[in-house]
Amino acid sequence: MNLRGRAPAAPQIELPIETPRLILRDFKKSDLKAVHAYSSLEEVARYLVWGPNSLAQSKQAIEGFIDDQRMRPREIFDVAVTLKPKREVIGGAGVRIIDRDNLTGEIGYTLHPDYWGFGLATEATRALLDAGFNELGLQRIVAHCDQRNKASARVMERLGMRREGAFRGSKIIHGHWRDEYLYAILAEDFS
Ligand SMILES: CC(C)(COP(=O)(O)OP(=O)(O)OC[C@H]1O[C@@H](n2cnc3c(N)ncnc32)[C@H](O)[C@@H]1OP(=O)(O)O)[C@@H](O)C(=O)NCCC(=O)NCCS
Repeated sequence: MNLRGRAPAAPQIELPIETPRLILRDFKKSDLKAVHAYSSLEEVARYLVWGPNSLAQSKQAIEGFIDDQRMRPREIFDVAVTLKPKREVIGGAGVRIIDRDNLTGEIGYTLHPDYWGFGLATEATRALLDAGFNELGLQRIVAHCDQRNKASARVMERLGMRREGAFRGSKIIHGHWRDEYLYAILAEDFS
Protein backbone atom coordinates (compact mmCIF):
# COMPACT_ATOMS: atom_id res chain seq x y z
CA MET A 1 0.00 0.00 0.00
CA ASN A 2 1.39 3.39 -0.93
CA LEU A 3 1.00 5.92 1.87
CA ARG A 4 1.79 8.94 -0.30
CA GLY A 5 -1.77 10.20 -0.33
CA ARG A 6 -2.13 9.75 3.41
CA ALA A 7 1.03 11.52 4.51
CA PRO A 8 0.33 14.85 6.21
CA ALA A 9 1.85 17.99 4.60
CA ALA A 10 4.55 18.50 7.23
CA PRO A 11 4.61 15.35 9.29
CA GLN A 12 6.52 15.39 12.56
CA ILE A 13 7.48 12.87 15.19
CA GLU A 14 6.16 13.78 18.59
CA LEU A 15 8.90 13.52 21.22
CA PRO A 16 9.53 12.16 23.75
CA ILE A 17 8.62 8.61 22.80
CA GLU A 18 8.07 6.18 25.65
CA THR A 19 8.63 2.43 25.37
CA PRO A 20 8.41 -0.15 28.16
CA ARG A 21 12.00 0.48 29.32
CA LEU A 22 13.09 3.63 27.52
CA ILE A 23 12.34 7.25 26.84
CA LEU A 24 13.57 8.66 23.53
CA ARG A 25 13.98 12.42 23.61
CA ASP A 26 15.84 15.21 21.87
CA PHE A 27 19.51 15.64 22.73
CA LYS A 28 20.57 18.59 24.90
CA LYS A 29 23.95 20.25 25.39
CA SER A 30 24.10 18.77 28.90
CA ASP A 31 24.19 15.24 27.41
CA LEU A 32 27.83 15.70 26.41
CA LYS A 33 29.35 13.56 29.18
CA ALA A 34 26.96 10.66 28.59
CA VAL A 35 27.31 10.82 24.81
CA HIS A 36 31.09 10.97 25.01
CA ALA A 37 31.09 7.96 27.37
CA TYR A 38 30.02 5.73 24.44
CA SER A 39 31.08 7.67 21.36
CA SER A 40 34.71 7.73 22.53
CA LEU A 41 34.95 3.92 22.71
CA GLU A 42 36.76 1.86 20.11
CA GLU A 43 34.40 -1.10 20.48
CA VAL A 44 31.46 1.19 19.68
CA ALA A 45 33.14 2.72 16.63
CA ARG A 46 34.51 -0.57 15.27
CA TYR A 47 31.98 -0.86 12.41
CA LEU A 48 31.00 2.81 12.14
CA VAL A 49 32.14 5.51 9.73
CA TRP A 50 32.66 7.86 12.71
CA GLY A 51 34.53 7.67 15.99
CA PRO A 52 36.03 6.96 18.37
CA ASN A 53 35.28 10.62 19.10
CA SER A 54 37.43 13.20 20.80
CA LEU A 55 35.52 15.32 23.30
CA ALA A 56 35.41 18.09 20.70
CA GLN A 57 33.89 15.69 18.16
CA SER A 58 31.23 14.54 20.64
CA LYS A 59 30.41 18.20 21.35
CA GLN A 60 30.18 18.89 17.64
CA ALA A 61 27.89 15.87 17.17
CA ILE A 62 25.48 17.16 19.82
CA GLU A 63 25.53 20.63 18.29
CA GLY A 64 24.63 19.02 14.97
CA PHE A 65 21.72 17.13 16.59
CA ILE A 66 20.47 20.41 18.10
CA ASP A 67 20.74 22.19 14.73
CA ASP A 68 18.70 19.39 13.16
CA GLN A 69 15.98 19.87 15.78
CA ARG A 70 15.41 23.39 14.38
CA MET A 71 14.85 22.20 10.81
CA ARG A 72 11.33 22.97 9.48
CA PRO A 73 9.96 20.70 8.29
CA ARG A 74 12.20 18.54 10.41
CA GLU A 75 13.62 15.59 8.50
CA ILE A 76 16.22 14.28 10.97
CA PHE A 77 15.28 12.82 14.33
CA ASP A 78 18.44 11.74 16.14
CA VAL A 79 17.34 11.11 19.70
CA ALA A 80 18.90 10.32 23.03
CA VAL A 81 18.04 6.82 24.26
CA THR A 82 17.41 7.14 28.00
CA LEU A 83 16.75 4.32 30.42
CA LYS A 84 13.92 4.40 32.93
CA PRO A 85 13.54 5.07 35.78
CA LYS A 86 16.57 7.39 36.13
CA ARG A 87 16.47 8.46 32.49
CA GLU A 88 20.23 8.32 32.04
CA VAL A 89 21.44 8.57 28.44
CA ILE A 90 22.64 5.13 27.32
CA GLY A 91 22.91 5.77 23.59
CA GLY A 92 21.48 7.39 20.54
CA ALA A 93 19.18 6.30 17.75
CA GLY A 94 17.64 8.03 14.81
CA VAL A 95 15.30 8.04 11.89
CA ARG A 96 15.70 10.50 9.02
CA ILE A 97 14.00 11.13 5.71
CA ILE A 98 16.48 10.41 2.92
CA ASP A 99 14.10 10.62 -0.07
CA ARG A 100 11.01 12.75 0.48
CA ASP A 101 9.55 12.08 -2.99
CA ASN A 102 9.60 8.35 -2.38
CA LEU A 103 8.76 8.53 1.34
CA THR A 104 11.94 6.72 2.28
CA GLY A 105 13.73 6.98 5.61
CA GLU A 106 16.82 5.54 7.22
CA ILE A 107 17.42 4.39 10.81
CA GLY A 108 20.52 4.03 12.95
CA TYR A 109 21.40 3.18 16.56
CA THR A 110 24.30 3.09 19.00
CA LEU A 111 24.32 2.10 22.66
CA HIS A 112 26.92 2.17 25.42
CA PRO A 113 28.38 -1.38 25.69
CA ASP A 114 27.20 -1.66 29.32
CA TYR A 115 23.69 -1.92 27.88
CA TRP A 116 24.31 -4.30 24.96
CA GLY A 117 22.54 -7.64 24.89
CA PHE A 118 19.29 -6.68 26.62
CA GLY A 119 17.19 -6.03 23.54
CA LEU A 120 17.32 -2.27 24.13
CA ALA A 121 18.51 -1.32 20.64
CA THR A 122 15.68 -3.40 19.20
CA GLU A 123 13.20 -1.70 21.56
CA ALA A 124 14.39 1.83 20.70
CA THR A 125 14.52 1.17 16.98
CA ARG A 126 11.10 -0.47 16.89
CA ALA A 127 9.68 2.74 18.37
CA LEU A 128 11.45 4.80 15.69
CA LEU A 129 10.16 2.56 12.90
CA ASP A 130 6.68 3.00 14.33
CA ALA A 131 7.11 6.79 14.39
CA GLY A 132 8.63 6.77 10.90
CA PHE A 133 5.71 4.88 9.41
CA ASN A 134 2.84 6.19 11.50
CA GLU A 135 3.88 9.79 12.18
CA LEU A 136 6.16 10.71 9.26
CA GLY A 137 4.07 8.65 6.85
CA LEU A 138 7.05 6.84 5.37
CA GLN A 139 6.59 3.98 2.94
CA ARG A 140 10.03 2.40 3.28
CA ILE A 141 12.79 2.53 5.91
CA VAL A 142 16.30 1.29 5.22
CA ALA A 143 19.50 0.75 7.18
CA HIS A 144 23.03 -0.23 6.29
CA CYS A 145 25.58 -2.11 8.35
CA ASP A 146 29.10 -3.39 7.95
CA GLN A 147 28.77 -7.09 7.10
CA ARG A 148 30.93 -7.94 10.13
CA ASN A 149 28.50 -6.20 12.47
CA LYS A 150 26.49 -9.26 13.53
CA ALA A 151 24.71 -7.53 16.41
CA SER A 152 23.41 -4.78 14.14
CA ALA A 153 22.27 -7.23 11.46
CA ARG A 154 20.48 -9.21 14.16
CA VAL A 155 18.70 -6.10 15.46
CA MET A 156 17.36 -5.43 11.96
CA GLU A 157 16.26 -9.02 11.51
CA ARG A 158 14.48 -8.95 14.88
CA LEU A 159 12.63 -5.86 13.66
CA GLY A 160 11.37 -7.68 10.60
CA MET A 161 13.68 -5.88 8.19
CA ARG A 162 14.75 -7.86 5.15
CA ARG A 163 18.26 -8.09 3.83
CA GLU A 164 17.85 -6.69 0.32
CA GLY A 165 21.43 -6.29 -0.69
CA ALA A 166 25.04 -7.13 -0.01
CA PHE A 167 27.41 -4.48 -1.31
CA ARG A 168 31.11 -4.97 -1.89
CA GLY A 169 33.58 -2.26 -0.93
CA SER A 170 30.84 0.32 -0.51
CA LYS A 171 32.00 2.28 2.52
CA ILE A 172 35.28 3.48 3.98
CA ILE A 173 35.34 2.46 7.64
CA HIS A 174 38.45 3.55 9.56
CA GLY A 175 40.50 3.74 6.41
CA HIS A 176 39.41 0.44 4.82
CA TRP A 177 36.85 -0.30 2.15
CA ARG A 178 34.23 -2.48 3.81
CA ASP A 179 31.34 -4.59 2.57
CA GLU A 180 27.85 -3.62 3.73
CA TYR A 181 24.39 -5.11 3.98
CA LEU A 182 21.30 -3.13 3.10
CA TYR A 183 18.20 -3.93 5.13
CA ALA A 184 14.74 -2.49 4.52
CA ILE A 185 11.16 -2.72 5.69
CA LEU A 186 7.95 -1.41 4.14
CA ALA A 187 5.06 0.16 6.05
CA GLU A 188 2.81 -2.74 5.10
CA ASP A 189 5.23 -5.24 6.67
CA PHE A 190 5.61 -3.39 9.97
CA SER A 191 3.54 -4.56 12.90
C1 LIG B 1 24.33 -2.81 17.39
C2 LIG B 1 23.94 -2.49 18.83
C3 LIG B 1 23.20 -1.17 18.87
C4 LIG B 1 23.04 -3.61 19.36
O1 LIG B 1 22.55 -3.22 20.66
P1 LIG B 1 21.85 -4.26 21.65
O2 LIG B 1 20.99 -3.48 22.57
O3 LIG B 1 22.87 -5.17 22.23
O4 LIG B 1 20.93 -5.05 20.64
P2 LIG B 1 19.79 -6.08 21.05
O5 LIG B 1 20.07 -6.62 22.41
O6 LIG B 1 18.49 -5.41 20.78
O7 LIG B 1 19.98 -7.22 19.95
C5 LIG B 1 21.28 -7.70 19.66
C6 LIG B 1 21.15 -9.03 18.97
O8 LIG B 1 22.40 -9.32 18.35
C7 LIG B 1 22.92 -10.52 18.89
N1 LIG B 1 24.38 -10.35 18.92
C8 LIG B 1 25.10 -9.53 19.69
N2 LIG B 1 26.40 -9.67 19.42
C9 LIG B 1 26.49 -10.61 18.46
C10 LIG B 1 27.56 -11.23 17.75
N3 LIG B 1 28.82 -10.84 17.98
N4 LIG B 1 27.27 -12.19 16.85
C11 LIG B 1 26.00 -12.56 16.61
N5 LIG B 1 24.93 -12.01 17.23
C12 LIG B 1 25.19 -11.05 18.15
C13 LIG B 1 22.29 -10.64 20.25
O9 LIG B 1 22.34 -11.97 20.69
C14 LIG B 1 20.89 -10.15 19.93
O10 LIG B 1 20.12 -11.09 19.22
P3 LIG B 1 19.13 -12.14 19.96
O11 LIG B 1 18.29 -11.32 20.90
O12 LIG B 1 18.36 -12.76 18.86
O13 LIG B 1 19.99 -13.08 20.70
C15 LIG B 1 25.18 -2.37 19.75
O14 LIG B 1 25.94 -3.53 19.59
C16 LIG B 1 26.03 -1.15 19.42
O15 LIG B 1 25.77 -0.04 19.93
N6 LIG B 1 27.10 -1.36 18.62
C17 LIG B 1 27.99 -0.24 18.26
C18 LIG B 1 27.33 0.75 17.31
C19 LIG B 1 26.81 0.06 16.05
O16 LIG B 1 27.49 -0.78 15.48
N7 LIG B 1 25.62 0.48 15.62
C20 LIG B 1 24.99 -0.06 14.44
C21 LIG B 1 25.46 0.62 13.23
S1 LIG B 1 24.85 -0.14 11.74
